[in-house]
Amino acid sequence: MKKVDIPKIPSSEITPQSAYINRRAFMAGAAGAAALATPFLRHLAHPKSVQADTQKLTTVPSKYSSTGLQLTSYNDITTYNNFYEFGVEKSDPSHNAWRLKTRPWTVKVSGLVKKPKTFDIDTLLKLQPMEERVYRHRCVEAWSMVIPWAGYSLSEFIKQCEPLGSAKYVQFLSLDNPQEEPWIHEVDLDWPYSEGLRMDEAMNPLALLTFGLYGQVLPNQDGAPIRMVLPWKYGFKSAKSLVEIKFVKNQPRTTWNESAPNEYGFYSNVNPNVDHPRWSQKYERVIGAPFWKARQPTLMFNGYGDQVAYLYKGMDLRKDF
Ligand code: MTE
Repeated sequence: MKKVDIPKIPSSEITPQSAYINRRAFMAGAAGAAALATPFLRHLAHPKSVQADTQKLTTVPSKYSSTGLQLTSYNDITTYNNFYEFGVEKSDPSHNAWRLKTRPWTVKVSGLVKKPKTFDIDTLLKLQPMEERVYRHRCVEAWSMVIPWAGYSLSEFIKQCEPLGSAKYVQFLSLDNPQEEPWIHEVDLDWPYSEGLRMDEAMNPLALLTFGLYGQVLPNQDGAPIRMVLPWKYGFKSAKSLVEIKFVKNQPRTTWNESAPNEYGFYSNVNPNVDHPRWSQKYERVIGAPFWKARQPTLMFNGYGDQVAYLYKGMDLRKDF
């Protein structure tokens, strides 16, 4: 398949995860950047390069919302993203994700379920009352946000899927469409983006099947039209732009664990006591906060221990990180 040239100038601000996978950037270097400039400009010039989808969602407040937190601005939430299908820099998804077509869109439910079924996104939107859930959002790269998501508990959806007793894990698979996501060819990860949970984790009410933020449908760069949000885990566990939810017997492959197993475990619970091999997890940089509030101590399970600690009782979280 033809490779699409996407410019990547090695940046001094390169993030730890992107440093890992941005193989083309290091190969191309500054000389390559000039040759690659034309398609880059074309992307920037596209009229939809900044998402302007403002379709409203009707939501009810949720008992699971975190209270008393300053919300991160809509602008920060939608311009500082990780979505490697649309580039490796934080601002890339907001420039490039206009390519994603979110209608028609279906989500296939497969594997160990009574009746495998494919859901249309507009059916999923109406399946349950949509709640607004304010959650802390903690990235493994030690930055954080506070986001008012819109969605409903994944557990409500799973109940409708009627998984078999033999289903021990749930796998989440993202769209893998190089036509709309040409950066897939530039980034050294195995596609599609895949994540997974143990069934009991998936049934925890905090696990949110997510369709929107700030009362509007998700902007493409935040994982439209449907993504997971798992507030007690590092952000990379929350797969975006889902096309398949699969019930399986064995622990599924997960993208970052596959890429660097010594750095990213299957569980990936937020844990200030277990450092990433290359940096500390004790503190986090709060995006958009004034400087005197920008460095905060990281909380165990991102502050959601009361609701989720039981899931990991008896486990050695240094081993199962
Ligand atoms: N899902 C897909 N399909 N592709 C990705 O690159 N990045 C993950 C996660 N889900 C990613 C993904 C990572 S590393 C993080 S931190 C969060 O999405 C970022 O979510 P946000 O951009 O909404 O903050």
